[in-house]
Amino acid sequence: MARLTVNNQAMEFRLEPDTPLLWALRDAANLTGTKYGCGTGECGACMVIVDGQAMPSCTLSLGEAEGRAVTTIEGLSTDRGHPVQQALVAEQAIQCGFCTPGIVIAAAALLARNANPTEADVATALTNICRCGVHPRLTRAVQRAGRIARGEEPGVPLPAPQTATTPGL
Ligand code: FES
Ligand code: FES
Repeated sequence: MARLTVNNQAMEFRLEPDTPLLWALRDAANLTGTKYGCGTGECGACMVIVDGQAMPSCTLSLGEAEGRAVTTIEGLSTDRGHPVQQALVAEQAIQCGFCTPGIVIAAAALLARNANPTEADVATALTNICRCGVHPRLTRAVQRAGRIARGEEPGVPLPAPQTATTPGL
């Protein structure tokens, strides 16, 4: 059993302490925005923020997360309007969607500790693997998000959420 705070909510997981945090979040807490990619801490698809630090949830055990504050992509903003989310859309820096939550989490954690990152800072913080070749756009987006967060640039209105119209989708 482990007690931790997830998205500002106290949670108790009745799972083995060596359960990867990723599976506790996805399978027990139904927070499926955090994705499974490599399972070995390499790809960044499973990134969450733990006590202010972006880290892979596939290699962090529930026992290691005990007592800590975890933020998943679901907890980053209530309306998908975090400056990073706004800027990623505006810069068309998101592609497959699978890697995107981890990228957003890594970028948000970076901006929380460094509101005006250089290109090198972004490259160091965003180690997420993405096969799309959008890293130059990602860098622009993260720096734009910083300007939005600092109030130097207006925010970007986000498109309305899409809903499935075909039964079963
Ligand atoms: S699934 Fe965790 S880093 Fe790839
Ligand atoms: S955004 Fe998923 S592979 Fe590039």
